[in-house]
Amino acid sequence: MTVRWGVIGTGGIARSFVEDSAALGVRFTAVGSRTRDRAQAFADEYGIEHAHGDYDALVADDTVDAVYVATPHSAHAEDALRAIEAGKHVLVEKAFTVNAAEARRVVDAARAAGVLVVEAMWTRFLPQASRIRQLVHEGRIGRPRLVEATHHQALPTDPRHRLNDPALAGGALLDLGVYPLAFAVDALGVPETVAAVGSLSDQGVDTQMGLVLGHPDGAQSVLHFALDLRSPNAASIIGDEGRIDLDPSWIGPTTYRLRDRDGHVLEEFDGREDRVGYHHEARAFEEMIASGDHEGGPMPIEQTVAIMEVMDEARRQVGVRYPGETDDATDTGAEPTHP
Ligand SMILES: NC(=O)c1ccc[n+]([C@@H]2O[C@H](COP(=O)([O-])OP(=O)(O)OC[C@H]3O[C@@H](n4cnc5c(N)ncnc54)[C@H](OP(=O)(O)O)[C@@H]3O)[C@@H](O)[C@H]2O)c1
Repeated sequence: MTVRWGVIGTGGIARSFVEDSAALGVRFTAVGSRTRDRAQAFADEYGIEHAHGDYDALVADDTVDAVYVATPHSAHAEDALRAIEAGKHVLVEKAFTVNAAEARRVVDAARAAGVLVVEAMWTRFLPQASRIRQLVHEGRIGRPRLVEATHHQALPTDPRHRLNDPALAGGALLDLGVYPLAFAVDALGVPETVAAVGSLSDQGVDTQMGLVLGHPDGAQSVLHFALDLRSPNAASIIGDEGRIDLDPSWIGPTTYRLRDRDGHVLEEFDGREDRVGYHHEARAFEEMIASGDHEGGPMPIEQTVAIMEVMDEARRQVGVRYPGETDDATDTGAEPTHP
């Protein structure tokens, strides 16, 4: 069965996702925007049949099987729940929600409705990610002990931009840090301890943050991300018998080398491609619908919730709280894990 996609939001990532995926045969039948004009312009540009001037009409569209949520973080839970209530499968942009409490509400609703919900952590779906996962699980670097990764981008400084606006759940962690965090969790498992240091903007969002995470079996990750820095963005997974070095920028299709402990190259992988690479997550999502596997895949939904819990704890430590959040909203329910 061909999955028919609808898109909520007409911003930057909605355009990139549709462009990248449609070119490889993913079928988009509808788009929803807060304004009819923007929906129509987007539909015209990408040859999409139905344009809706509000999101409720988009999720109610009979020609839509799966909804891609491409709105700011602050709107993800509401838009995902809207799609789930309409009986649609839903792929939600990262960060999945503002906090873990919202994430659990979305996941519970999807399970109750029997629909698929997945976080669009697209780097998990790249061919390089599945090969690296295999190498780590086969013990090719011995026991994985350390993940090092950065995600630095010099992004718009306009205070009204969603990245800088607390009301839209801006900040480096939810926008950029979620990638190295998802990468570290893939290699080392869900962290048991979290230590965060952050710098905040005048508006109260994190502009940069460092995380040191303690994973099961004593492994650690050291992650840094910033909205106002530029760097090549490399990443490594280091084990007691070898390492995997991903070349800059590791956030996207790239090259990597598997090395033994002495630095000899054992395997080289070139995952570069002409496209950005969003089509991999779109196709994997379609396969999950077809197989009925709602819990597994490269970005299992329970890991998404666990990652939201880590981000809640990191934000608690550095003092970032979004409007409307209460103590309960960022309370992970876990024992305090900071030093
Ligand atoms: N996977 C990736 O590589 C990647 C890259 C960039 C961003 N993202 C993620 O994608 C999501 C959207 O980011 P973006 O950069 O595409 O943002 P954007 O360019 O600002 O677009 C967001 C869209 O959401 C809709 N929207 C709904 N409520 C809104 C509000 N209160 N304020 C502004 N827009 C609102 C708007 O569409 P309408 O006006 O048409 O309704 C808007 O065009 C975020 O979760 C972000 O983290 C992912």
